[in-house]
Amino acid sequence: MIHEVRGVVARSKGAPVTVETVLVPDPGPGEALVAVQACGVCRTDLHYRQGGINDEFPFLLGHEAAGVVEGVGDGVDTVAPGDFVILNWRAVCGRCRACRRGKPWYCFDTHNAAQSMTLSDGTALAPALGIGAFVEKTLVHSGQCTKVSPAIAPEIAGLLGCGVMAGLGAAINTGGITRGDSVAVIGCGGVGNAAIAGAALAGATTIIGIDVDPGKLQWATDFGATHAINARESDAVEAVRSYTGGFGADVVIDAVGRPETWRQAFFARDFAGTVVLVGVPTPDLMVPEIPLLEIFGRGGSLKSSWYGDCLPERDFPMLVDLHLQGRLPLEKFVSETITLDDMEAAFEKMERGEVLRSVVLLGGPG
Ligand SMILES: NC(=O)c1ccc[n+]([C@@H]2O[C@H](COP(=O)([O-])OP(=O)(O)OC[C@H]3O[C@@H](n4cnc5c(N)ncnc54)[C@H](O)[C@@H]3O)[C@@H](O)[C@H]2O)c1
Ligand SMILES: [Zn+2]
Ligand SMILES: [Zn+2]
Repeated sequence: MIHEVRGVVARSKGAPVTVETVLVPDPGPGEALVAVQACGVCRTDLHYRQGGINDEFPFLLGHEAAGVVEGVGDGVDTVAPGDFVILNWRAVCGRCRACRRGKPWYCFDTHNAAQSMTLSDGTALAPALGIGAFVEKTLVHSGQCTKVSPAIAPEIAGLLGCGVMAGLGAAINTGGITRGDSVAVIGCGGVGNAAIAGAALAGATTIIGIDVDPGKLQWATDFGATHAINARESDAVEAVRSYTGGFGADVVIDAVGRPETWRQAFFARDFAGTVVLVGVPTPDLMVPEIPLLEIFGRGGSLKSSWYGDCLPERDFPMLVDLHLQGRLPLEKFVSETITLDDMEAAFEKMERGEVLRSVVLLGGPG
């Protein structure tokens, strides 16, 4: 059976998105059909629409989603119809060289659905990050569905599927933040504020939020930053040093991803500290000029964080539980709920820095 549903499609580079009829096949072997309940608007969706990821238009946008499994294909025993799931874009294979060496969060051969979703004329859609979830029903690999407690609201749960997980994981998994650490986070959007929440959860005692937008700094404080620095008004490196006894922070997270912010992260770090790059640079940006001797002499580690080095099966249920216990205020990331027809307006609000996340609500099962 083919399911005829509505979804948000980016047809060509830079053009406004359109809501189109999307044809979704029944799940084949290893696949799952999911009735999407909520999907957050991430900067990466805008990158797809602008042609900043690749040229494989038309794209079916959306990838920060939660919903209910409606059907599964042959051989699927990890999820069943009726399960409430968060979708993930790193369904690990268990067999590649990273998985075999016990580091599956680096998996080099992650799974996606084998069948395509299409436009009504049969044109295959390229789903954003192998998901495509601004659509009433989506087809994914069953490993992309992580079952969690249905007690969490879908519009909150879905955010763990991308940006919020990336930020929390950059702090907890990649940065290895622990009790008593000092932490600085450059860029306090959805990802940076999630890193701040992660640092607070892990027990960091000094948490410094840095941004160029005063509104974002207010959010940073709400998520647990003990100090806020406006990088337009003061030197970020000097300010971090002044809040850390003159030394610099144990862990500095760059959630912007530009040479100037990475340079600040490098020098705002204490000796033997850690820099985590979680913001995604554009292809034109180069490593800033830093004497090699500084890299040697300062020691420590310079890391990147893909999807917060998360393992969805391990991390999503744990983070949902912490939220339900009142220890992780994920609801604060939801700035507004919208419909499929509001996508362009949501992109504009994101560009103006007015929202942490706009979340599309969809009908879900039925
Ligand atoms: N590594 C991953 O797996 C992963 C996953 C999701 C998103 N990301 C990336 O993380 C980055 C942040 O995403 P987001 O959703 O939080 O975006 P966002 O636009 O909400 O936040 C970016 C923030 O950086 C601030 N900023 C910009 N320039 C700055 C500067 N020079 N100094 C200080 N602050 C500055 C902005 O004011 C804004 O608050 C993006 O590059 C995104 O693509 C990475
Ligand atoms: Zn693998
Ligand atoms: Zn995303």
